[in-house]
Amino acid sequence: MKILGIETSCDETGIALVEASGGLKNPRFRVLKNLVASQIKIHAPFGGVVPNLAKREHEKNLPILLKRLLGCPTAKWDIVAVTVGPGLEPCLWQGIEFAKEVAKKFKKSVVAVNHMEGHIASVLLGQEKQEEIKFPALALLVSGGHTELVLMKNWLNYKIIGETLDDAVGEAFDKVARMLSLPYPGGPELSKLADKLTRPRMSGQIKLPRPMINSKDLNFSFSGLKTAVLYALRDNPKLNKAALAKEFQNAAVDVLVVKTLKAIDRHKPKTLIVAGGVAANKHLQKEISSAMKKFPGIQTMVPDPQFTGDNAAMIASAGYFHALKKNFAKPNKLKASGQLSL
Ligand code: KG4
Ligand code: ZN
Repeated sequence: MKILGIETSCDETGIALVEASGGLKNPRFRVLKNLVASQIKIHAPFGGVVPNLAKREHEKNLPILLKRLLGCPTAKWDIVAVTVGPGLEPCLWQGIEFAKEVAKKFKKSVVAVNHMEGHIASVLLGQEKQEEIKFPALALLVSGGHTELVLMKNWLNYKIIGETLDDAVGEAFDKVARMLSLPYPGGPELSKLADKLTRPRMSGQIKLPRPMINSKDLNFSFSGLKTAVLYALRDNPKLNKAALAKEFQNAAVDVLVVKTLKAIDRHKPKTLIVAGGVAANKHLQKEISSAMKKFPGIQTMVPDPQFTGDNAAMIASAGYFHALKKNFAKPNKLKASGQLSL
């Protein structure tokens, strides 16, 4: 089955064509085309995503990307998969309206996809990927809008067992990056700065909190950590920025890892998935992989670097599961849902 994916939940316009096979038991994906139009340059002067500018860019970029995709000799599809939430509603609507047009023009059915479900499916994409997800699986989803631990009994069977009570971890990275006057998008820049620290012991001289690390539940909180950075800078403007970035990154990752291990201990999954934009963070990947050495029976899956950020290939892939379950949407019932939960 070939699936056309459409993603416009935030500031990346994505259109992709994915060939899926194997059914629910052994899903396999071949990404035939994965086009992403990034809006970094548009939003950079504002230090963050401006929803109406993002919507306008999606409107402009979607037909351009589709035209490029139609130039590819394999450009035929059986269904259309579109992100309906969570995300910025004006942006989501742009993708939905476009999906409706394309479905009508090419007489194909549409499936509605949750953006976070797309991030989960992203671990199956890439040429080298041979592993399959063994259930029950635990997913640590870390992005600009979400930080959640999700237990999956199977595809389309999700239970959120922990989540952030305030800021998402990616949002905290972005806000702290802004405090350090780093360019937008802040998360990767902050991480680069932290990794540049030549004297790692310097970060030990700054002590930031690890919020909720000892709480019994599986929830997170990152807003206090962000405020602690603000106070540290206020009290000592001469603090070494790389050392502060490193200690912030250590603190955020420590909490993510400890809560993930707590969830593993309680729910005994067979697979651990780490996905979402922040899954690109090298320190997080390193700490997860070293912590998982204690659990040789659990396989850890992270997306290939090209699929950690928002893209439409992951939406097309998650759409495959909906198509298998015949969860087709009536085009006039499709609706953007900014707060959609798994
Ligand atoms: O999944 P994503 O691309 O978009 C959303 O669905 O939000 O995630 C974007 C988030 C941003 O907050 C970005 O700063 C963060 O992921 N991010 C990183 C890194 N790369 C992206 N955060 C920390 N380290 C990175 N290397
Ligand atoms: Zn995302």
